[in-house]
Formats: sequence, C-alpha cells, structure tokens
Amino acid sequence: MKKILLSLMIALLLAPGLVKANPTQGGDFVAGKNTFLLNGKPFILRAGELHYSRIPKPYWEHRIQMCKAMGMNTICIYLFWNYHEQQPGVYDFSGDKDVAEFVRLIQKNGMYCILRPGPYVCAEWEMGGLPWWLLKKKDLKVRTLADSYFVERTKLFLNEAGKQLAKYQIQNGGPIIMVQVENEYGVWGNDAAYMSIIRDGIRAAGFDKVQLFRCDWSSNFDRYNVPGVASTLNFGAGSNIDNQFKKFKELNPDAPLMCSEYWTGWFDHWGSPHETRSISSFIGSLKDMMDKKVSFSLYMAHGGTSFGHWAGSNSPSFAPTTSSYDYNAPIDESGHATDKFYAVRDLLKNYLQEGETLTDVPAYPEKTIEIPAVKFIQTASLFDNLPVAKKSEDIQPMEFFDQGWGSILYRTTIPASAKIRKLTISDVHDWATIFVNGKIVGKLDRRLGDREVEIPATASPARLDILVEAMGRINYSEAIIDRKGITKKVELSEGNNTTELKGWSVYNFPVDYAFQQNKKYKPAPAKGPAWYKATFTLNKTGNTYFDMSKWGKGMVWLNGRNLGRFWKIGPTQTLFVPACWLKKGVNEIIVLDVDKPSATTIAGLNHPILDKTAQDESLLHRKKGQNLDLTGVKPVNTGSLPAGNGWKAITFDQMQNGRYLCFEALNAQDANDPVTSIAEFELIGEDGKAISSQLWRVLYADSEEVTTVNNSADKIFDLQESVIWQTQTTSSKTKHPHQVVIDLGENVNVKGFRILPRGDKSNVGVVKDYRVYLSKAPFKF
Ligand code: GLA
Repeated sequence: MKKILLSLMIALLLAPGLVKANPTQGGDFVAGKNTFLLNGKPFILRAGELHYSRIPKPYWEHRIQMCKAMGMNTICIYLFWNYHEQQPGVYDFSGDKDVAEFVRLIQKNGMYCILRPGPYVCAEWEMGGLPWWLLKKKDLKVRTLADSYFVERTKLFLNEAGKQLAKYQIQNGGPIIMVQVENEYGVWGNDAAYMSIIRDGIRAAGFDKVQLFRCDWSSNFDRYNVPGVASTLNFGAGSNIDNQFKKFKELNPDAPLMCSEYWTGWFDHWGSPHETRSISSFIGSLKDMMDKKVSFSLYMAHGGTSFGHWAGSNSPSFAPTTSSYDYNAPIDESGHATDKFYAVRDLLKNYLQEGETLTDVPAYPEKTIEIPAVKFIQTASLFDNLPVAKKSEDIQPMEFFDQGWGSILYRTTIPASAKIRKLTISDVHDWATIFVNGKIVGKLDRRLGDREVEIPATASPARLDILVEAMGRINYSEAIIDRKGITKKVELSEGNNTTELKGWSVYNFPVDYAFQQNKKYKPAPAKGPAWYKATFTLNKTGNTYFDMSKWGKGMVWLNGRNLGRFWKIGPTQTLFVPACWLKKGVNEIIVLDVDKPSATTIAGLNHPILDKTAQDESLLHRKKGQNLDLTGVKPVNTGSLPAGNGWKAITFDQMQNGRYLCFEALNAQDANDPVTSIAEFELIGEDGKAISSQLWRVLYADSEEVTTVNNSADKIFDLQESVIWQTQTTSSKTKHPHQVVIDLGENVNVKGFRILPRGDKSNVGVVKDYRVYLSKAPFKF
C-alpha cells in the first residue's frame, strides 16, 4: 500500500504542470506601481529569449540551463502560428513542436516564462509567423479588423495555444508570468480596437488571469492604448536608457520599466555584411538598466537556426534573412557560450535578487566533429524530373497552386522572331532563371529590383521556362503580404509591341523531403538546376557545419531533415548540423541547387563561416570612380537641424514633386566630425503622412561603412530605427559633404521630411546643415 501511495505521489509530482520543488510554481505576478510584483514583492525580470523551433528538441533543456547560468530568471518565447498550423485547421503541437514541453522544462529549471503568441511575431521568421495559406484569399488583409477571415483564423489559433499553455499561467501553478498581445503594433498601425480584440482573444483562449503586456518603441508606443495591457519598450545594444524611457515615463509615471527586447546583436541578410554588436556597447546599457532597476529580455539570448524554409525576409528594401540565426548573441548558433555570455554572467552576478543563485555553466551536450569532404556522384537534373504539370491560362503565384514553399517552374511557348526581344516579369519573388529552349538567357534577383531579360531571336516557336525560387516571406512592414513565384504578369516586347504571355504549364517543387528523395538519381553530371545525393558513414556523431561555399543556391536535407538555405553570395557559408540529426553508420545528404555549384563536395567543418560575402556581391552603392554631379541642380530645401535625439520634422515652403531624391549632409553637429549617420528618413506626402518607402532603391551613396558593421545607406528607409547608415569612420577616407541618392520608384508630391538621428549613446555623424534635392529626371554622375 505504502509503495502504491509513494508511486502515486511521484506520478503526481511529475505530471505536467505540477512540477514542485522549485521556486517558480504557482503564485501571482502583476505590473504594480513602478515595479513588477511577484507574489507581492518587487521583482526585476532578467529574461532571455529562446525559440524552441530554432533549437533541436534534445537540446532545449541545455539552452534553458545556459540562460539560467548567464544570470536569467525568465525565458521569453514566441509562438509561431505557421509552425503549428501548416494546413488550415490541422494543429500540430507534438514532437519538435511540443511547446508545452518547452514550458515545462523552463519550470523544471526554476525559471519563469514570458509567452508571446502573436498572432504576428516578426522574429525574422517566414511571414512573421502568419500561415502562408492565408494568402490564398486574394484580398487578404492582416493585423486589422478589416478582414474578418484573418481575425477568425487568429482566434482559432489562439484557442489552440490556450489549450496547450493556459494551464501553465503562474496563477494555475505554472511558470508563465506574462503574455504579450501582438508584436510591436506601433510600427504597423494605431488601431486600438484591433489590439483590444487580440487582447480579448488571448483572454478568451484561457489566459484569463495572467498579466498581459505589449511591446513597442520609444518613438511609437503612444500611437495607441489598450486598457488592461502593460506597456514595454524594445531597443538595441548601446542604447541610452534615459532617452529611451524619457517620454514613456512622462506618459506612464506609475509603470514599471521594461525593455522586452534588448537586441544583443542582429540578424544577417544574404549579400550583406555579417552583423555584430560589440560587447562593450551591449554590456554598458545592460548595466545601466540593472542600475536603474529596469527589467529586460535579451533578444536573442541564443538565436539558433531557422532550419528549413523558416527564415523570413525584410522590406524595404527586399532582403532575405540567412538560415543561421546566430544573431551575434551571447550563446552562439550551436549553443556554446561566447565572450558576450561571460560578460553578461559577470555583470548579472552582482544583481541577483533574494533567493536567486547563479548556477554553473552546464556541460555542453555534444562534441564538435569534422567530416572529410563527401563527394556527390548521384544527380537528378530538375528538367528530367518534372512533376505533373498544372495548366493555367494566366500566370499566378504559387499559393494559388496550393504550394507553400520551394520553387516553381512556369512554362509556355513564345513565337518565332528574327529580332531580339525583351521579357518583363512583374514581379519575381524571389530569384528566377529564364531558359529559352533549355538554354539560360538570364537571371533575375528581386533584391536588385531585376525585372527584364533579353530573349534571343528564334527561328521557330520556342519553349520559355521561368524557374523561380522563393526565399522566406517578408516578416516586417506592410510588405508582409508577400506571395511567391510570379505575382502579376509576364510580357514579351518586340519594338513597340508588347503582349502578355498566357497559357502556362506550372510545375511545383515543394520542400518536403519525400519530394526530393523520390527523383531519378543517376551517376552522371547534372544538367542545369539539379538534386545531388550522397551518403557517408560515421562512427561517431557530433555537431558540425556543412561547408556550402562551393555551391550555388538552394537547400540541403540531411537524413530527411531540411537544414536550411545556402547561397554563394554569403555572408553565411555554412549550415549548422546538430549532432542529434546525424547517425552512427550511414547518413544521407540531398542538395537541391537551383543555380550551379563550382564543385560538388561537402565537408563538415568544426566552425561556422558567417562572414564571407562573395567578391562579386556589390555591398556599396557607389561604383568605382563614380561621383555625383549636382552642378546646376537647385536644392528644394536647405537648412540646419537641431542637435539631440528623436525625430526632427521639416516642412518645405511649397509642395515639391519628383522621383529622384538626394539628401546631402554638409556637416555634423560636431564641426570636426567628418562622418554622416542617419537612422531613418521619411518623406512627408500631401496628406501629412510618411510616403511608403516600399518602392525605394538607393542609387548612390558617396560612402558607407560596411566592412566591420553593416551601415549601408538603405538602412535609412528600412523602418528599423536601431540600424543606421553611417559613412566610413576612418577620417582619412571620409569628408563632407555626404550624399545619398534614392529612386523613389514613381513621381511623388512631397511636403517635407522627417529625419531620425542614431539612438545609441554615440553622437558621431549626427547631421546639422543639409540640402535636399528632388528631381523628375535622374541626377548626373
Ligand atoms: C523586433 C521584433 C522581433 C525581431 C527584432 C529584430 O523587435 O519584435 O521579433 O524581429 O525586431 O531581430
């Protein structure tokens, strides 16, 4: 009897949600007057963000323990709607997607949890967490009450999330102390009614007791207000804490202060320099927060990897994110402690609260191994392995062929002609190769705004093939309605005659492993885009990094797992291979390369390559020897900007019109400072609102610092306030005036402009005197 009772007690203790014997079970947590209160006592959150979907499940607990050892008392997680509902109504919270298990592990390790269920999460994650199948609705609108379908599907998902996690609210005995409503809604809109509906949806899903909160920026948190939802701010490494919270404190004098995303580093885009943030600037502001009793969450504590097709893209300008989500975070992509980790640990040991201890850094669960180069002999050329075609009179994006991710091939016939013709594709999402009778005639890259290729003369009607590879869907800004493939039309022009091409055969290439495996592989060189297959044998497993630097562009599957994307342009040249996905014995790799490898081998390295951009990738918006010639061009406005932080607005004397803009900085606030830096730049339209920058493209910038950091000129209209344009900082290489020239994509009426200086502690490059030029015709060089 005693035995039965004992086992019953043990079973009860181990039952999900009832794990005792740690400090995070049960109680209450609220945003009190000027402080958070845990069970009635002041409490400072030191949270670290982890994404369970970016960490292989066997390592979840290790990464949680790493956060604890870094000095965290809380883990912050997003829920990714599209990860759990890949088909409408089919919810999956099992295996790798068992987020409830992740939350239980947080509790088991004596930590609290902040939950951020979206529906929109951003996170450099495909479509910001929204499911692609929403896009099958032609007039879809998101993050608004204007689309009842979106709101309905959101509520259904939140209910499922509630079924999984509501029982883990702290008031029910679990570790969840706060739940976030939406994500940085102030960047998107100011519709308090929409935010209230999301708040109510979260409550109705069962999160009925927990403290709710929202996060925004110091520049936009006041755009809306949602009763019952605490407010927090997000900002990056090196920020001036007093400046960040100045206005917030004025408007919310009783609120506890929290930075719910303190950006530890930043993410990488294909074709751009690797992003890093220095330990000194990062630690400095973290210490400031601790000294001022400001709660924080490190975004990311550990970024991990956006495996498979899950990495998103940014816009404007279109910039797909790499699969490595290392983030220059304190815990690196593979889960190892970096110097930043030890800097955080060293700092936070001085700020522990009653009952908290700094745990030991846990042993790393795996060894790192090298794998000698594996040769790929077996190939399956894409054109020899076409799936069954679908017919479509009009061209349409892949969503309308029920395809979520991958590549798509559009085929039609073009008439004979003795002349060279022009093919215009609007729009390529995201990377296309154009073939005529099987021969490559051009490649189009959405990042570069490419739309046209020349079609050679053909003596008889010819077969036109357009193979389009989709990168991640945009996860930021109004551009998140981002259908893939070809979105509008394809036109063929000969002289003044333009015809829209019709009558398409469409071939879908999804990303599922079964689809890649099931090809006619043979030991022969590939012709054009192709799958490559190889096996290799291991007698011990360990973490490794596949070196993809010799391959063109595509994806890799290891033992059935999609590791992610590669692209020769870098900066990432490796794919992280977790030990738990390798096997002792025979392992299989399949590569789909939609471009062309220079050698078909893959070796496993003992280190990642995150910072090697291809030589031919132009990182600068200035050609060698190119100089802007403004002789005879009259500025539409000149002036002097005041010193200090925050947005500065200038109204022109009269409305101006034009398509080409040049902003010229004549000097900086410090007269001896040769640098220019700008965080954001907006043009104000007739209606007094910012003109959308989605069509903008940088044509020229006299100087950009892209060697050690990514301070390219397009950062001034990317709508991300924490990343900036900065001219080169070596004084011998830089001097005023500094100019940036932007093609606005169309003629616009402009009433004035707004400019935001950098928001970190530095003052370098903040513009004083300036000139603005606006012209209907391009400027001369
Ligand atoms: C914002 C978002 C996050 C993430 C970061 C940048 O703060 O809320 O999801 O996208 O930017 O990494």
